[in-house]
Amino acid sequence: AFSHLLQAPEDPILGVTVAFNKDPSPVKLNLGVGAYRTEEGKPLVLNVVRRAEQQLVNDRSRVKEYLPIVGLAEFNKLSAKLIFGADSPAIRENRVTTVQCLSGTGSLRVGGEFLGRHYHQRIIYIPLPTWGNHPKVFTLAGLSVKTYRYYDPATRGLNFQGLLEDLGTAPSGAIVLLHACAHNPTGVDPTLEQWEQIRQLMRSKGLLPFFDSAYQGFASGNLDADAQSVRMFVADGGECLVAQSYAKNMGLYGERVGALSIVCNTADVAGRVESQLKLVIRPMYSNPPIHGASIVAAILKDRDMYNEWTIELKAMADRIISMRHQLFDALHARGTPGDWSHIIKQIGMFTFTGLNSEQVAFMTKEFHIYMTSDGRISMAGLSSTTVAHLADAIHAAVTH
Ligand code: LMR
Repeated sequence: AFSHLLQAPEDPILGVTVAFNKDPSPVKLNLGVGAYRTEEGKPLVLNVVRRAEQQLVNDRSRVKEYLPIVGLAEFNKLSAKLIFGADSPAIRENRVTTVQCLSGTGSLRVGGEFLGRHYHQRIIYIPLPTWGNHPKVFTLAGLSVKTYRYYDPATRGLNFQGLLEDLGTAPSGAIVLLHACAHNPTGVDPTLEQWEQIRQLMRSKGLLPFFDSAYQGFASGNLDADAQSVRMFVADGGECLVAQSYAKNMGLYGERVGALSIVCNTADVAGRVESQLKLVIRPMYSNPPIHGASIVAAILKDRDMYNEWTIELKAMADRIISMRHQLFDALHARGTPGDWSHIIKQIGMFTFTGLNSEQVAFMTKEFHIYMTSDGRISMAGLSSTTVAHLADAIHAAVTH
């Protein structure tokens, strides 16, 4: 029945790990997937996550029943508070519906399916470039995907003029995907003033914002600062969607824990939206898993654990920022041709190096350094002991 099938290519991001795992070299380095590593190059389970898990294990009253279709109520409430702010009028007015989903991807997909079914405008604009999974998620959800200019290779910064022009000519009501902070893959974010201009333009044209918030706390080390873009769009009283992931900021990658929030005009609408989200979710995976959401809820509701989390989160963000400086200094010391200041200027987990796919292939072949072919490197995968190796590889790639 399946003999006609062609071999499908590996995923452009997760496939990098597949190739990495096959490489026997002792110096190999995986800077592909955006997953945090310690200075020793090891995955990190946050102390606060261990604490929360211990607490869950010790609580004999906990059972493994099905969650409701929309997930753990407490988790949903706390997630909305985390992204919109404790004093958000939208929450106070019960205009927000939040459903627990399978991390960022699952939240985007549920949101996409909902929009494909119930929103009058099927066009979604995504930034160019964007996370490789975005176009696939939304196309499969039945939306028509278009791009808006975002990154300017010449300045390695934001193409703000291009962005305004493209959103300015988008059909009224179109959906616009926005990265809440720490844009993936470029590490380039609008300033708050630019966000304000984007907001005004989008609201004046009735464009519907769909935020992907996968890095809250990772851009600046501050959870509130990294939610500013979203909060600006909620403060004006308008509608929006937000997909949240706890993969990075709590290190819960494999627990697949995230949330989709839809901010509506009235509490009545929010209730009906939620009822329709249940119809989207039930035939897809019935209801979400309980463990990861319980960890998140335990941390978010306990002041002491919340504080511990923010300290650990800041430490991860700071280590990434320090790696940016170390890599920049290492290239500077080697006299590597080119302006590498974008390594320091870009924010979040990634540096969009500007290296082309041939240079990336060269670095993989000669130096066993694995990264996505668009030249993105995960700074979170780098450490003081490996930065010299990476700098040697970049230097060789641009000079050979
Ligand atoms: C990434 O961009 O590396 C991460 O978001 C992981 C993923 O699922 O692609």
